[in-house]
Amino acid sequence: MNKITAAITAVGGYVPEGLLTNQDLESMVDTNDEWITSRTGIKERHILKKEGLGTSYMAVKAVQQLLDKSGINPKEIDMVIMATATPDMPVAATAASVASQVGATNAFGYDLQAACSGFLYGMSTASAYIESGRYKKVLLVGADKMSSIVDYTDRTTCIIFGDGAGAVLFEPNTEGLGFQDEYLRSDGIGCQFLRIEAGGSLLPASEETVKNKQHYLYQDGKSVFKYAVSNMADASAEIMKRNQLSKDDIKYLIPHQANKRIIDATAKRMGVDGSKVLMNIERYGNTTAATLPLLLHDYETSLKKGDNLVFAAFGGGFTWGAAYIKWAYNTNDKN
Ligand code: UT7
Repeated sequence: MNKITAAITAVGGYVPEGLLTNQDLESMVDTNDEWITSRTGIKERHILKKEGLGTSYMAVKAVQQLLDKSGINPKEIDMVIMATATPDMPVAATAASVASQVGATNAFGYDLQAACSGFLYGMSTASAYIESGRYKKVLLVGADKMSSIVDYTDRTTCIIFGDGAGAVLFEPNTEGLGFQDEYLRSDGIGCQFLRIEAGGSLLPASEETVKNKQHYLYQDGKSVFKYAVSNMADASAEIMKRNQLSKDDIKYLIPHQANKRIIDATAKRMGVDGSKVLMNIERYGNTTAATLPLLLHDYETSLKKGDNLVFAAFGGGFTWGAAYIKWAYNTNDKN
């Protein structure tokens, strides 16, 4: 019997309608379009503006699109992994809510928190469950409502983040396609540079923490940038070396969308030119756990069966890594 690998077999994505452009930000904080564009590559972000809607709202939209496109019966889904740094509530797994809302009534689900690396780590988890033979249909969602934790008076963070969601389905493959290898790392030094200080067990919410704005995302951008550039590039170079992949063997680099300069540095280190780098940061900004599946959603029709793809991410914690996947289908064959 052929070895079972874990392949992505369907993709869905969603961004809310509301737009926050660089011009909008110019009227909110001391910044300008030229600075934001040249330092980050971002022009606009989508924001979930309607009150009373959380991350699950976007996740459900992305999953519903995946189900509609693929024709899969949600009752067949075994498990839902929800990568997010902005769950609907601190307690009560958002994955359970998403599973119920999409009709995945035979599934179990839980949340996975690894900030901007959440989806990358989730690919590792989903693949391991499939490879083990224990489950046949694992839904992995990456979704974040970053606007719920961003301080829109802080110009160093509010220009970067946006809201969005993406979803993929992992299924067994016997042709050797799908997940091939991973290189994942973390380093707790990162919590001093990128964090939400309060609201956790270390510093529970109080009048004081609200007054001190400690429930917002804090980022020492310069330090995060340095760590991100070297670690994302190192991880991507390592995955190439371990799998004897030359720059010509790689069809696309699929990098976390935090800053175009970090992406360019990673591509340069791998020796791949810009035409092989998937990017949508200009339109969405950094949607945290949603960046990688949103790239798959936007570029799905360009991906061909057998393409060698390298995914790379870096985020809070710090958490980072790279994964090597052989794409498993042609979109045209599915229609
Ligand atoms: O996905 C999770 C991981 N996060 C990341 O990967 C983000 C990593 N960091 C970054 O992307 C970049 O560090 C930023 C985009 C956040 C900032 O870019 P930078 O080139 O590192 O800028 P900087 O922090 O070194 O600031 C340069 C100057 C400073 O002014 P002075 O001190 O040189 O006078 C800042 O005060 O730019 C100023 N500045 C701004 N100016 C206009 C900072 N933010 C802004 C702004 N508009 N929004």
